[in-house]
Amino acid sequence: MVIRSETPTDIEAIVEVTKAAFADDSFSQQTEHFTINDLRADDALVISLVSEVEGKVVGHIAFSSVTISDGTTNWHGLGPVSVLPEYQGRRIGTALVNKGLALLESIDSKGSVLIGLPTYFSRFGFWNHPQLVHEGIPQEVFAAKSFVGQMPSGIVEFHQAFKQLSIIEKDAVADVIIDYAIAGIKVDLADPTIESLIKKEILIEIPDGKVMMHPSALAEYDPYLAKVGQFRATEMSRVHKNPILAAINS
Ligand SMILES: CC(C)(COP(=O)(O)OP(=O)(O)OC[C@H]1O[C@@H](n2cnc3c(N)ncnc32)[C@H](O)[C@@H]1OP(=O)(O)O)[C@@H](O)C(=O)NCCC(=O)NCCS
Repeated sequence: MVIRSETPTDIEAIVEVTKAAFADDSFSQQTEHFTINDLRADDALVISLVSEVEGKVVGHIAFSSVTISDGTTNWHGLGPVSVLPEYQGRRIGTALVNKGLALLESIDSKGSVLIGLPTYFSRFGFWNHPQLVHEGIPQEVFAAKSFVGQMPSGIVEFHQAFKQLSIIEKDAVADVIIDYAIAGIKVDLADPTIESLIKKEILIEIPDGKVMMHPSALAEYDPYLAKVGQFRATEMSRVHKNPILAAINS
């Protein structure tokens, strides 16, 4: 097995490996490959390694900078890390994590955080530390490893690229934009996709089983959809204020 930094010709294989690795993961929204591509586009992939077996890319790991509310700098997020299902259990993940962490230390990183299974990541020295949290992430799956002995304390934020909407969520937002109404849009509040959009504050619950769209929250996840949503809202407000247009639209 060879572990090396990604090259432009690996990009497609990294997408395929990542999609395949997370395909059956019930905790995943299957957006990890979008995160990697957005990190790359934003020049924020601090480390991106592939593992190759007989010339084929079978694993990948990404590292990117994080911010910590106590002002600590030079910490990095580990992930996503993926190994093709048919190659799992052959220590490829272990090799990717170890090589990635060694490289991080060599560039003077002070530590790393991740969202993942403690049963897997504790073997690399990642543990949950109560003083280090990530909003919206259960504490038991948020782990950190310091390279310098000191553990920061505060709220950790990953790069913007980790804020992604799943395809189903994007479809639901598109439906809300299409159905936009000044008095709110009737939705099925029990629908898990709608619940997730409310949790992300992209939809705001109002009385009568309706929701309002919150374009600035949407912009954090999908600036393009947010622009379309904002345009639609402005347009509908213009129609609403004009009695002739309102009559035509009613
Ligand atoms: C997690 C992942 C990268 C591990 O890669 P891998 O090459 O299969 O792992 P390794 O062969 O190096 O495993 C080393 C050890 O970890 C264990 N292990 C592997 N995956 C595990 C998991 N999901 N949970 C708990 N232990 C796990 C293995 O059984 C092995 O244990 P052993 O040392 O007792 O034999 C791979 O399973 C994967 O791609 N999973 C889907 C994506 C994912 O969950 N990524 C992590 C979150 S970003």
